[in-house]
Amino acid sequence: MLDHGTAPPAAGDDQRSARPAAGFAAGLMRRKPVERLVAEGGQGEGGSLRRSLGMWQLTMISIGATLGTGIFVVLGEAVPKAGPAVIVSFVIAGITALFSALSYAELAGTIPVSGSSYSYAYATLGELVAWVCGWCLILEYGVSVAAVAVGWGQYLNELLDGTIGVTIPASLANPPGDGGVFNLPALLVVLLCMAFLLGGAKESARANTIMVAVKIVALLLFCGVAFQGIKAGNYTPFMPLGVAGLSSAGASLFFSYIGFDAASTAGEEAKDAQRDLPRAIMLSLIIVTALYCLVAAVAVGAMPWQKFEGSEAALAGIMKDVTGQSFWAVLLAAGAVIAIASVVLTVLYGQTRILFAMSRDGLVPKVFSKVHAKSGTPRANTVIVSLFCGILAAAIPLGQLADATSIGTLFAFALVNVAVIVLRRTRPDMKRTFRVPLSPVFPAIGFLLCVYMMGSLDKVTWMVFGVWMAVGLVIYFGYGRSRSRLAREETQVPLEK
Ligand code: ALA
Repeated sequence: MLDHGTAPPAAGDDQRSARPAAGFAAGLMRRKPVERLVAEGGQGEGGSLRRSLGMWQLTMISIGATLGTGIFVVLGEAVPKAGPAVIVSFVIAGITALFSALSYAELAGTIPVSGSSYSYAYATLGELVAWVCGWCLILEYGVSVAAVAVGWGQYLNELLDGTIGVTIPASLANPPGDGGVFNLPALLVVLLCMAFLLGGAKESARANTIMVAVKIVALLLFCGVAFQGIKAGNYTPFMPLGVAGLSSAGASLFFSYIGFDAASTAGEEAKDAQRDLPRAIMLSLIIVTALYCLVAAVAVGAMPWQKFEGSEAALAGIMKDVTGQSFWAVLLAAGAVIAIASVVLTVLYGQTRILFAMSRDGLVPKVFSKVHAKSGTPRANTVIVSLFCGILAAAIPLGQLADATSIGTLFAFALVNVAVIVLRRTRPDMKRTFRVPLSPVFPAIGFLLCVYMMGSLDKVTWMVFGVWMAVGLVIYFGYGRSRSRLAREETQVPLEK
């Protein structure tokens, strides 16, 4: 194993990053050299992660993390805001995601490590910003697992109702404040995915690939069946609620694009990360955008937009209306149950790998970077993260979780766009397997779009975000700052074993 405590910066490294930081402010700005980030890749406490994932599996991880609650549940909430023009809203949200995806692709190919944007920020914007970014990723990944698990519970009930005529009682299927005591299905799906992850990254990726295939087939099946019910009149008026409705629906639908970056958390388990990560990120975004636009176009063509109001499982309802048989709705619910489970699996995976990287840097406890010798996975990390997400999913309503997820994600995406600009300036010499076209214009547009979308979220979400950030800063100043591996090396304090 590498001796990270004493490793000198690699030749050609950014010497400014490696120079001991003097003073309080300089300490917060300390950066981790890119070469060191890459050299430490895969290394954990007591073992290493296994490089077992190819380009196909990485693409499936990103699609797995993206395609789920957004298209199966949130679409139904967005149509009443925009009318048939929801198709354009999907494109608007997709364009916002695209600019950030370009930046992710460049950085994932340049710094192919598990920490995703946390690590990119550590290499470019300094330790404090990296911590803030990592803390936002916990909102993007950890909290979205909980949000998505809640959506899963809704479709599970639909499926149980359609097949055996039984539903889980409201008290056991909803969190407090939403008509229940405890959301049992949400907890169960998280624990089920935990079991897969404990088996190993390759095994989880295999299960995910099957689930992704099922969800793509389910959505194509929906398009095939609902296509027969399209009436040209349903598309007019196309934009009944004007431009404001269009962008408000776009902000809600941004949730459906969250996850395309999940492949970037697999950087230390990819066989050829520098080549495959940028391709996987871009390919997954193209596939999901095409599917979203197709499904939205068929859905609003087959059902008058006003009828979407209050419909929880809109796609299943359309299938039933068009065919007059509940069989199709049950089939779609089954597809949704599998689809949403794969989001939980891959996003949970991403969260564990981000904490793995943060732990290796000393910013969170060492237990998160302990690798289990037999499975080559961070087992303790997986169990802790799963229990945390499962309890959150069981106790908090979906809407609150989804908005918190979006704001944290947008903040992390904004930082990634800045990181591209900074790294191009500080390390123009680095090998880049993918380059954002027209930099710095495109990353700057990506940054502005993220900030604009954050601005369209409501006050309560901003307050939740403010409290989340304050808690994060208390943890950093109370724990991470003094335990940071880089800080200890600079002040010659022995590293904790
Ligand atoms: N994009 C993910 C979903 O829609 C979070 O489920």
